[in-house]
Amino acid sequence: MSFEPHASPKHIAIIMDGNGRWSKKRLMPRNIGHLMGASNLRKIVKACVNHSVKHLTVFAFSTENWKRPPEEVAILFDLFVRYLKSEIMELQAQGIRWRVIGDQSAFPKELKDQIDFACKATERGTQLDLTVAINYGGRWDILQAVQGWQLAHPYESLDQLSQDALDPYLATHPLPEPDLLIRTGGESRLSNFLIWQCAYTEMFFTKELWPDFGEASLSEAIEWYGQRIRRFGKTDEQVQESSLRAKSVLHPN
Ligand code: FPP
Repeated sequence: MSFEPHASPKHIAIIMDGNGRWSKKRLMPRNIGHLMGASNLRKIVKACVNHSVKHLTVFAFSTENWKRPPEEVAILFDLFVRYLKSEIMELQAQGIRWRVIGDQSAFPKELKDQIDFACKATERGTQLDLTVAINYGGRWDILQAVQGWQLAHPYESLDQLSQDALDPYLATHPLPEPDLLIRTGGESRLSNFLIWQCAYTEMFFTKELWPDFGEASLSEAIEWYGQRIRRFGKTDEQVQESSLRAKSVLHPN
């Protein structure tokens, strides 16, 4: 049975792993790896726009990353602030809407202020949603969504909560679920990133370290995605039937 390759991914999620090893290989301090990682993010954002990707969600700092040495945590937070300050005009010019997901309560004030400013300044962007997960964890997200639902429905009991009803309370709302997740750096796990949202996401794992993951690598991942058959629990025959039906709606006769 053969299938037509399906449309390109509308939502890509990336676990940008390998900055530390990138710098270690070059006998450089880890912060250089993170700097190169930030500069690579800039390139990949542009490349996503060129591929008509509408939503890009990247994992910049996990709830577990607090276990890193305090100097590295400080360097990362400082980098986020500087990235925002230097990027905001470019984000606006490219029509990119900046968003942040994660528990912001522990952020330094400067970062909070800069995030608020960037979100406001780019809210009219229509080319791409760039969502940066900072102090984010998938388990945190599920828990805060359930708590959010409960707060909004004080007279309902939890057995009235459905999967669809939880959706508006997830940190990623109103984004669609990611079609493609890319993880660089050679590990093949989700590490608590978007664990609810990635239930049916195609996953591309590469050994390439994040600062080396360029436009050609992104194209390769998108091409790989195009060859996947997304069944969402259905049989091959059902999938083929619905793809033929979609084709006849798009191109009648
Ligand atoms: C993982 O590499 C990377 C991080 C924990 C930080 C990700 C941050 C950036 C790419 C900086 C740019 C982001 C923004 C939003 C400006 P690692 O340090 O775990 O690498 P390793 O596994 O090789 O040690």
